[in-house]
Amino acid sequence: MKLSSKTITLLGLYLSLSFNVIASDDSEADGQFLHADKCLKCHTDQPYINQKSGIENYQKLHSRVKMCSHQAEAEFFDDEIISVTDYLNNTYYKFKK
Ligand code: HEC
Repeated sequence: MKLSSKTITLLGLYLSLSFNVIASDDSEADGQFLHADKCLKCHTDQPYINQKSGIENYQKLHSRVKMCSHQAEAEFFDDEIISVTDYLNNTYYKFKK
């Protein structure tokens, strides 16, 4: 099998993220890992913070993550949805909780 450079980059990201999860029990690190695992297949092409999205507070972000987790067929537990929401919020949206 021939590995593309994109695959190798993703693999590297994967390994460093897995390491982070093992290295800490921080729920946001967990969210970062789950996000890379389930969400990046669409969201590298579809960046966050779309001005027309209507996501204007933490609650809406939480609902969107929940909706998208169904699209991703990710079957997240509630606390995993919170971890992913916190990761996206701290990385991109910066809403007050
Ligand atoms: C099947 C492709 C797909 C997957 C997988 C997916 N998404 Fe999405 N997501 C989209 C599309 C397309 C949009 C933008 C269109 C829309 O708002 O309906 C979107 C929009 C979003 C938004 C709103 C972005 C904004 O406009 O501010 C968030 C937040 C989000 N997704 C989170 C997630 C999370 C978290 C996961 C993983 C659990 C995920 N998505 C997995 C396709 C996907």
